[in-house]
Amino acid sequence: MATNKPHVICVPIPYQGHINPMFKLAKLLHSRGVYITMVVTEFNVARLASSSTVESPFLEGFNDFSIEVIPDGLPPDNKRSVFNLHELCYSFRGIQGEPQMAIRSLLMRLLESPDIPPVTSVISDAMMTFVPQVCIELGIPVFHLYTTSACGMLGYMQFDELVKRGDFPLKDESCLTNGYLDTSIEWVPGLIKEARMKHLPTFLRTTDPNEIIFNYLAEATRNAKVTAGLILNTFDDLEGQILKEIEKVIANIYTIGPLTKLSQPVNERKLLPLSWSLWKEDNSYLEWLDKRSPKSVIYVNFGSIAVLTPEQLKEFAWGLANSKHPFLWVIRSDLVIGESNIITEDCYMEEIKDRGLILSWCLQEKVLQHPSVAVFLTHCGWNSTLESIGEGVPMICWPFFAEQQMNGLYACKEWRVGVEMEEGSVQRKEVEGLVRDVMESEKGKELKGKAMEWKKKAEEATRPGGSSYNNFDKLVRNLVGKGNHC
Ligand code: UDX
Repeated sequence: MATNKPHVICVPIPYQGHINPMFKLAKLLHSRGVYITMVVTEFNVARLASSSTVESPFLEGFNDFSIEVIPDGLPPDNKRSVFNLHELCYSFRGIQGEPQMAIRSLLMRLLESPDIPPVTSVISDAMMTFVPQVCIELGIPVFHLYTTSACGMLGYMQFDELVKRGDFPLKDESCLTNGYLDTSIEWVPGLIKEARMKHLPTFLRTTDPNEIIFNYLAEATRNAKVTAGLILNTFDDLEGQILKEIEKVIANIYTIGPLTKLSQPVNERKLLPLSWSLWKEDNSYLEWLDKRSPKSVIYVNFGSIAVLTPEQLKEFAWGLANSKHPFLWVIRSDLVIGESNIITEDCYMEEIKDRGLILSWCLQEKVLQHPSVAVFLTHCGWNSTLESIGEGVPMICWPFFAEQQMNGLYACKEWRVGVEMEEGSVQRKEVEGLVRDVMESEKGKELKGKAMEWKKKAEEATRPGGSSYNNFDKLVRNLVGKGNHC
């Protein structure tokens, strides 16, 4: 064991959309000779072990990439779904709970261990509020990975201001329906003029001043201002204007995205598994895509945490079927609330049998890279949005929650790679119409052209000499203590 390597500890918050960018970052650092300790939760280790993508989450055979496990403080039967986010916030708040004690004793053990390289620094997901606190207490430099877009982060940075302005909490429930959410937010510098209250992170939509998720995320974002460095999965060409605003309050920003692109050379060398999926991957889809014509398939995936009502599922299902275009749709086992599921109905399966493939999980990177994929119907999670941009795939945007509304707005109005669906209710006619528009009209061609331009820019940013590539170099130097933190 080489104990003279730099040693970086990576701590993602235990959700797929956060594990993925952290794992990619860890892989990149590992490829530069950094010893990695990745900290995951007990619950997710069990899930990783049962997903086929990674044979063992402990990555046997990689003695310079180790996995450590902490509890998340929730009972075993907690589903850890979107409906339990507030419970996780309660568990992660403060510094005295079970996860907090566990991370403190883990860091102390790693600091004292003679068998592994001395700890150089920690990269904490910005949402793991207790990790930086413990690191500071133990004198370990801590960097934040904020996994949203910069425009999404700028939205979260307004939470304190919303309180000051009296815009949070909402005066009453009617604000959700009376047009209040369509109010302009020109007071937020740096955002495009089309931005409205409804594009700020959805956690503000409550009348409860003590709403835990709002307050937790306000704190997480405040903390991100006090850090050795802030790492963002975006690139300068894409979000330069917004980054200028964030830089007014946060020094040492490293924009190193798209991480899927920056880590592609490392993936090609197959040093570590491609991904760390919490769901079991289906395996038939690449052959199915191989049999389709170029740019003919609608790819539909609502990420790892969004949920649909049976009614929304039905409208999406018939909208896609009625468009008559081929589609590949990932329906996670926990996507639909309740039992009813149109996908199990024979008449629907009969209707789509020659052109619809339904899966429970895929390796999204592979799908978006496939030449048959024409368009991505997405919930606008930041990873999905940026992965799509990185592969030049235009989007139909149906934002679900959090900062996804802002991602969707920017994708459609600023980067011009998407068409927008109203959030919430879904109409099959609208789905069918948008699919036809993107697949068959001039508008579709324009979106495709723009998406290809952004793909090129993403490639330029991540190849040697590009902004993200250079920023990653600088990050490595500063993480291992050889930079001047500038
Ligand atoms: C979201 C977003 O991260 C974030 O914007 C928001 O704040 C809350 O959580 P999620 O639903 O996980 O998370 O979306 P996304 O950011 O798109 O991440 C999903 C990740 O899982 C992507 O990296 C995607 O490639 C991967 N994925 C998803 C698969 O590999 N296969 C699938 O079938 C689905």
